[in-house]
Amino acid sequence: MDYLSYYGLNESPFLIAPNPRFLYMSAQHRAALAKVVSRLQTRQGLSVVYGAVGTGKTTVARWLHDRLNEDPSGLYIARTIYNPGFRRENQLLRVILREFGAEDLARTLDGNLALLQGFLQREVVEGDRTVVLIIDEANLLPAALLEFLRQLLNFENNEFKLLQIVLVGTDELRAKIQRKPALASRARSVSTLEPFDAEDLGRMIAYRASVAGRERPLFTPAALAALYDISEGIPRTAINLCEYALEAAFVDEATIVDEGHIRQATDGVEQGRPRGAREPSVPLLAGTGRQP
Ligand SMILES: Nc1ncnc2c1ncn2[C@@H]1O[C@H](COP(=O)(O)OP(=O)(O)OP(=O)(O)O)[C@@H](O)[C@H]1O
Ligand SMILES: [Mg+2]
Repeated sequence: MDYLSYYGLNESPFLIAPNPRFLYMSAQHRAALAKVVSRLQTRQGLSVVYGAVGTGKTTVARWLHDRLNEDPSGLYIARTIYNPGFRRENQLLRVILREFGAEDLARTLDGNLALLQGFLQREVVEGDRTVVLIIDEANLLPAALLEFLRQLLNFENNEFKLLQIVLVGTDELRAKIQRKPALASRARSVSTLEPFDAEDLGRMIAYRASVAGRERPLFTPAALAALYDISEGIPRTAINLCEYALEAAFVDEATIVDEGHIRQATDGVEQGRPRGAREPSVPLLAGTGRQP
């Protein structure tokens, strides 16, 4: 029997991929997303979501992307750039245009700006759609490109902005935006994803397990308390530990993951693999798509 069926799971609940299906909506996530969505609905231009490393920024970006594109109204066109390692304006603009489906791009920046304007005119002004550009890891954008995005926010009519931009990034992004008052003052919605408190961390773990098919508790309260202490509420750290702890519990033939398994997992994460893993080390979770 493999570990998944042993624990009544249909799939692994603790893969670190930012899969929006596993997103647990804590009060802060709900508030942050509601704020962004309401600004998008009124087309007010710029929203920003900050968060420290591993707090769920990419998951939130994906959730928003899916939620908008699947909106029953069919009136949202959302595209996401996940790794904006660009240096030049025209480079970024060409990627944006391609994301929105443009085929014949211009060579010059002005030519591409005209293409974007034409696209927004058709979709937003004539088609009444809301066009949203989400940029994850926006902290990677050089200051000049943040300034360029500010210019794109100038496409507007009397009532609203034609292009909606959602920037998602770390504190480095916050510092960059704060150095640009013209951009900072345009941010109509600013939220920050904080690490979870102990209660929400426990709920997030239970939620992920339930998405994977397990309704009964998978971790003892003491295990969850240890998990919170060690992870300090950072989702990625906690999920990583859960994966290892589950392996350790399986090796132990335990029916539930206890505090000892979390401690073993902590050692395992530090050493690169779980201490309980059998020799020779055939990956226990091989074939589940687990990332190293
Ligand atoms: N609210 C949540 N509910 C369930 N899982 C979450 C939640 N927030 C984050 N996670 C999980 O934590 C892990 C890290 O999330 P994610 O990659 O989105 O973080 P990030 O802030 O983008 O990290 P980085 O700063 O490294 O880019 C993922 O496995 C993700 O599924
Ligand atoms: Mg990320």
